[in-house]
Amino acid sequence: MRPIRSYVLRQGRTTPAQKRALEELLPKYGLGFRAEPLSGPEIFGRSAPLVLEIGSGMGETTAAIAQARPDADFIAVEVHGPGVGSLLNRIEKAKLSNLKVLRHDALEVLEKMIPDASLAAIHLFFPDPWPKKRHHKRRLVQAEFAALAARKLAPGGVLHAATDWPDYAEHMEAVFSREPLLARAGSGFAERLETKFEARGKRLGHEIRDLYWRRRIRP
Ligand SMILES: C[S@@+](CC[C@H](N)C(=O)[O-])C[C@H]1O[C@@H](n2cnc3c(N)ncnc32)[C@H](O)[C@@H]1O
Repeated sequence: MRPIRSYVLRQGRTTPAQKRALEELLPKYGLGFRAEPLSGPEIFGRSAPLVLEIGSGMGETTAAIAQARPDADFIAVEVHGPGVGSLLNRIEKAKLSNLKVLRHDALEVLEKMIPDASLAAIHLFFPDPWPKKRHHKRRLVQAEFAALAARKLAPGGVLHAATDWPDYAEHMEAVFSREPLLARAGSGFAERLETKFEARGKRLGHEIRDLYWRRRIRP
């Protein structure tokens, strides 16, 4: 049986620059999926706080945060080809050595590839809201996701989610507050810059919410 995914792969238009990036830059700045844990030091060759972003989209915020935080290492996970290509071009342009892109289902990456208690933060910016009730099962934020995310965060690590859908914000509040390993927090690991989907939400008059939870030091 096919698992229920949190995305539908729409091809969209891949620009020539994105196509070239996927061919030429993915070997340089990409990470291949593997179903075994891979630590930050194995990937980046140093010991530094590790941040995982789920659904980096076109990667504008992702690249800006990595540039602003050279002290930390970042893995951006995204399934959408044009978005991956766009982020690869940003990495090349800014010569970032602390950001890698992984084109794969983020849930599987989190579950199989990320060691437990290893992340300083998880970034989940404007995940698809799946507004229709019959599609709610596709939402990434579910009880199982909350437990998985909490397990992968280091004690004190932060889960930072943003959304422009009030109904999804309420859903996140309910789901994350039921996870015993997580406690509500007031701020995140890094300053978030405006994303493409945030700008779209604002144009539609939506209220933007940033929500933070921290993994408890002791359960
Ligand atoms: C609404 S967009 C937001 C993109 C970006 N964070 C922004 O704010 O502009 C959600 C993104 O998450 C990606 N996505 C959804 N589920 C995913 C999953 N399980 N693994 C990887 N990417 C996923 C989609 O491909 C899409 O690009």
